[in-house]
Amino acid sequence: MSTSNDGWGSRVGLILAMAGNAVGLGNFLRFPVKAVENGGGTFIIPYLVSFLVMGIPLLWVEWSMGRFGGKFGDHSTPFILDNITKKRIWKYFGVFGIFTNLGVMAYYTYIESWTLTYTLKSLKGDFSGKKIDEVGVMFDQYVDIGAASGINFPIWALVAFVITLCLNIYILSRGLNDGIEKVAKFAMPLLIIFGAFLAIKAVFLGSTGNCADCDSHIGLNFLWEPHYETLWDPKVWLEAAGQIFFTLSVGMGTIQCYSSYLKSKDDVALNAMSAGWMNGFVEIVLGASVVIPIAVGYMGLDWVKENAGFMMAFKTMPYLFDQWGPTMSVISGVAWFGLLFFAGITSSLAMGTPWMGFMKDEFKWSNNKSAWTLGLLLFFMALPTIFFFEKGVFDEYDYWTGTVSLVIFAFAEVILFAWVFGIDNAWEEITRGADMKVPGFYKYILKFVTPVFIGVILFTSLFKPKDWASPFKREGGWNWADDSIINQIFHLNNEVIWFSEHGATNMFYIDMSRVFLLAIFIGLCALVKIASNKRKKAKLANS
Ligand code: PHE
Repeated sequence: MSTSNDGWGSRVGLILAMAGNAVGLGNFLRFPVKAVENGGGTFIIPYLVSFLVMGIPLLWVEWSMGRFGGKFGDHSTPFILDNITKKRIWKYFGVFGIFTNLGVMAYYTYIESWTLTYTLKSLKGDFSGKKIDEVGVMFDQYVDIGAASGINFPIWALVAFVITLCLNIYILSRGLNDGIEKVAKFAMPLLIIFGAFLAIKAVFLGSTGNCADCDSHIGLNFLWEPHYETLWDPKVWLEAAGQIFFTLSVGMGTIQCYSSYLKSKDDVALNAMSAGWMNGFVEIVLGASVVIPIAVGYMGLDWVKENAGFMMAFKTMPYLFDQWGPTMSVISGVAWFGLLFFAGITSSLAMGTPWMGFMKDEFKWSNNKSAWTLGLLLFFMALPTIFFFEKGVFDEYDYWTGTVSLVIFAFAEVILFAWVFGIDNAWEEITRGADMKVPGFYKYILKFVTPVFIGVILFTSLFKPKDWASPFKREGGWNWADDSIINQIFHLNNEVIWFSEHGATNMFYIDMSRVFLLAIFIGLCALVKIASNKRKKAKLANS
């Protein structure tokens, strides 16, 4: 248990930090791509439903759970969960709340470093006069995609990554109030200004005459006009729910960590809503109004549908900004990549806090020591994603730590809070000190709808078929989707081949990265075990 007097400086600072935690690359890179891939306007309905019945209740659960743990001096999920029930197993579920953050932060900080480099490149005018393919090649060269050896060694990207990581660690070592809160107060308003500037440019772009349907309004309409054809496609629902998890940072353990520094009578209900809706605004209004409409304006909707991917932000956007003339292209490039950098750093900082909270609480480490060990750990965790990027290791991290873990952890915590702790206790925690009236029906949503909703997501993610319309193969077996958890674990759709005549296969690298992640998870469990033994001894000594 921590004795430090870390805490938030002000309510505005807290909300901006929490909003900064949520608003991230997910809002500007992941959301627009997911929306395009899932039929544009169709995506919005499942997305909003998931937000209302799962996102909001989870926000309340996590905020109040964190504040509850903070009362006992606990700032990371293993012992926050342990305090809610004394059953031993729960603290090991809490390990997810540290593990997920380490895994995501490793690859997330890498992307963040690209945005830093690209801000500088835009400022220098590196993209000026380049053709679209040339801008694409610049990016490939930067991350060394297509390396002759098949193993990437992007030296400048590595240097930028180390700089970005050190910056994160330095800010973290300054503590909540002096580090994270200060950054959020500065970065969040700037990010919104940059986002609004680009969104306005996109709205006024209209038709460029480049092709018949090259019109930014077509892009906006595509994202906004509800279409109902694919609404019944379970895949769209899974994707929408997954986006809600990622964008709100729920099921990760960061919100609990941030709110564990609240005082026990501080409001959680309204604060959680403010941060959650601010994230929604940035995502749906700003996130949807930049990349896609501008790209449709110059390249047309069909091109965008075919090429949608988060690399578009780096491979296409600089070229499109260049169409706006030399000065505007510098301003827009800096606004775009600067915005991404601010969005990224306020999120990666959040991901660093659970590890620090844990080491400070349990092993009495200083801010400095817990921050720099985190840096070292992340450095080694990120190397495989950098060197073996093209082997699929980067995606593998995203799949396990940025997708699957969140659902497992969220399911566990909602059962724990609403059922084990009990809905009446849970409700009391959510509403204590509340500065808003929490609608009473949310008690039932939290007790029944949210757990069932997440349970269904978990179940379908485990067993989803490749084709929902005809899930059975002709031979009569179940037709697993490639990204169903069960297929991923057992490689049911592919033969396991680790070595071919060309050396190690992608599957080898992927499987090794899994072993590595698993080892990290087990290592964290061991730390929790040691901490728990220490606590028991201390208790005995006191009695
Ligand atoms: N919510 C962040 C985003 O949208 C990602 C994130 C994940 C932040 C985990 C904190 C913790 O990019």
